[in-house]
Amino acid sequence: MTRSAFAHVDGVLHAERVSAVSLAERFGTPLYVYSRAALTDAWQAYAGACAGRRASVHVAVKANSNLAVLNVFARMNAGFDIVSGGELARVLAAGGKAENTVFSGVGKSAAEMRDALVAGVKCFNVESIPELDRLNEVAGSIGKRAPVSLRVNPDVDAKTHPYISTGLKSNKFGVAFDDARATYRAAAAMRHLEVIGIDCHIGSQITEVAPYLDAVDRLLELVAQIEADGATVRHIDVGGGLGITYDNETPPDIGVFVRTVLDRIDARGHGHREVYFEPGRSLVGNAGILLTRVEFLKPGAEKNFVIVDAAMNDLARPAMYEAYHAIEPVVMRSAPQQVYDVVGPVCESGDWLGRDRALAVEPGDLLAVRSAGAYGFVMSSNYNTRPRAAEVMVDGDKVHLVRAREDVQQLFAGEARLPD
Ligand code: LLP
Repeated sequence: MTRSAFAHVDGVLHAERVSAVSLAERFGTPLYVYSRAALTDAWQAYAGACAGRRASVHVAVKANSNLAVLNVFARMNAGFDIVSGGELARVLAAGGKAENTVFSGVGKSAAEMRDALVAGVKCFNVESIPELDRLNEVAGSIGKRAPVSLRVNPDVDAKTHPYISTGLKSNKFGVAFDDARATYRAAAAMRHLEVIGIDCHIGSQITEVAPYLDAVDRLLELVAQIEADGATVRHIDVGGGLGITYDNETPPDIGVFVRTVLDRIDARGHGHREVYFEPGRSLVGNAGILLTRVEFLKPGAEKNFVIVDAAMNDLARPAMYEAYHAIEPVVMRSAPQQVYDVVGPVCESGDWLGRDRALAVEPGDLLAVRSAGAYGFVMSSNYNTRPRAAEVMVDGDKVHLVRAREDVQQLFAGEARLPD
């Protein structure tokens, strides 16, 4: 996905046709800003590459679950990938359909399973025998058969950050490759389950196609064995994980990625099966920025700091993964640049948004933290009793407030003092 939805026009950053200065003045900061055009372009890159093929795309809701964002995808007939009952409720509230939704996740509760069965989700991606047992029991108790796929751990190295790599033997995810055939047999023997597919998810922010091809090859080895045992594998779900450009990464283009995976599956003689994709970051990551205002400049003995009004509670990725997000002034200054760490007001040394950044900046200036559309707002918290940011969606020259800024009273509305 290009980042062109956010560009400087006459020295002022714009989101589509709207100046970021006007957004900050109208809605305050910190402020998440999404571009409908960027969301649409990324979706169309997936959908275009899948056109005419047996393939479907399920938006990973966890990456950005704002109702307006999900609604943009639902209007384009997207499928969804959820990991909780809460995400199912969001998909339905946003106009998505349960029958286009797959339910992933390693620890589904019985209540979540029941709600998803009643809603009629397309498939449960199951990760263990105890989970199969629970799903079988829940389905039986309401007289339904649950469609299932097993998430197999293909033991391939996705070459990404260890916290977001999921396809290695050492990860908590999926059924071990060597146990997969037996687990499929167990699933096939359960009366209230119907085996319909196989899936994997090898990690996130993956910038090469090769690990996907390795994973696909491993899954296809199993498909032959599973079918020899009498089950039918109608679909192969390759998960999500395609990376984006935060700095100078060069992930494959979405269309190239999709076609390469589909071509491999065809070439191996499995083109009659449907292929599912579960992208999150590559759909929404570069469709969002976080606007923040400079509070103070603080020169230090070893480092200079720009203290801004956004913090690790608003964007956790730098603190959690040492993730890089480009940071740029909303209004360009011609003054000489200095090197700063850009940090927030939270009382932790880990509260930083960017390190060693060359900026020409003054108190009161606005900065834009780029590539904040994925795992940004959704991972935000109220740490330090900080109300969560507002979210807006820009559509051409129109702006929609899609989540109001929280106020402090809301934060402790559910709490109580002890009785007198
Ligand atoms: N499917 C499954 C089963 C997943 O676990 C994930 C992400 C996805 C799809 C979507 O992956 P994506 O296309 O977005 O890479 N918070 C981390 C990323 C965690 C990803 C977890 N699983 C970050 O900020 O980098």
